Amino acid sequence: MKTDKHVLLLIGSPKSSKSTSESLSNYLIDQLQTRGLSTEKIHIGKSLRNSEGLSSLLLALDGADTVVLASPLYVDSLPYPVTRALEAIAEYRHGKELKKKQSLIAI
Ligand SMILES: Cc1cc2nc3c(=O)[nH]c(=O)nc-3n(C[C@H](O)[C@H](O)[C@H](O)COP(=O)(O)O)c2cc1C
Repeated sequence: MKTDKHVLLLIGSPKSSKSTSESLSNYLIDQLQTRGLSTEKIHIGKSLRNSEGLSSLLLALDGADTVVLASPLYVDSLPYPVTRALEAIAEYRHGKELKKKQSLIAI
């Protein structure tokens, strides 16, 4: 079955590789692609290193039907880059009308 739904996976772990967040996301990507959905994966920490990275993240968000945030908790809190990204997204979207309905899933 092929669908035109696009799922964006945002990895919130500050670990550069071998994070639980990434493992879960890779599994989910396999499952979604098997079911005909298109996927895209972005590491939040890497995106925040420069303005181009943040712009790409914001554009990717605009194009997604579903956003999956895969992130650890450290001492009952999201890692700083995730909080920073959520603030940037709120600022970018403030007063803007969304072009399509989107869902957010947090792991
Ligand atoms: C110092 C420290 C604090 C943690 N605090 C929490 C917490 O408050 N709540 C929780 O559910 N897990 C907590 N964990 C567990 C991590 O969230 C868990 O290991 C997670 O899978 C790590 O994800 P990552 O590999 O994607 O970074 C903590 C782990 C460490 C090392």
